[in-house]
Amino acid sequence: MTTGIRIGLTVRALTEADLPSCGWSGDAMHVRQLADQLRRMADGEIDYLAVCTPADLPVALGGIDYTVRPGAGTLWQLGVHPALRSCGIGTFLVRSAEHRIATRGLTRAELGVEDDNPRARALYERLGYRAYGREPDSWDVVAADGSIRRHETMCTLLRKEL
Ligand SMILES: CC(C)(COP(=O)(O)OP(=O)(O)OC[C@H]1O[C@@H](n2cnc3c(N)ncnc32)[C@H](O)[C@@H]1OP(=O)(O)O)[C@@H](O)C(=O)NCCC(=O)NCCS
Repeated sequence: MTTGIRIGLTVRALTEADLPSCGWSGDAMHVRQLADQLRRMADGEIDYLAVCTPADLPVALGGIDYTVRPGAGTLWQLGVHPALRSCGIGTFLVRSAEHRIATRGLTRAELGVEDDNPRARALYERLGYRAYGREPDSWDVVAADGSIRRHETMCTLLRKEL
């Protein structure tokens, strides 16, 4: 038996009270680093959006960094709760981020997508993003044994005029 249920989602800035409900978005280090993102948001360097259910719990998160490229908002750490992917929430998150960038008076959105993530890339291209370059990227991840290792990757850079 299947059913379709409509739920209203809202988008707002991430808050400290959300952090205990963000475990789905990454490993323990990622969640700890969300606290740093809250500080950067308070300083005006970034926005960090949370898409929330009627219970006001976050089911999608995404950052916009205004310090990466002059004149642009750079989307990063976009993620939708695994149980709710392919329902249009990622689209809502990206469109909300674009709206936020435009509200800042900027006219360009950018992002990088890993080469092994063709589904995410297809979504961005469907939303009007076009590839313009490539760039290596790296970040720390917590391995299964608790050790920290560096994840090295190659990303395609995409951008969209708003
Ligand atoms: C990439 C990601 C953010 C996209 O979010 P999402 O909520 O799944 O995206 P959407 O639902 O808006 O669109 C994606 C798919 O849903 C489909 N879709 C959109 N609206 C839909 C709807 N109302 N009903 C059914 N399907 C829908 C789209 O056609 C698309 O299809 P696909 O399966 O061919 O990709 C999400 O999959 C995710 O968190 N992935 C893991 C982390 C990640 O890769 N982040 C991106 C780093 S760059």
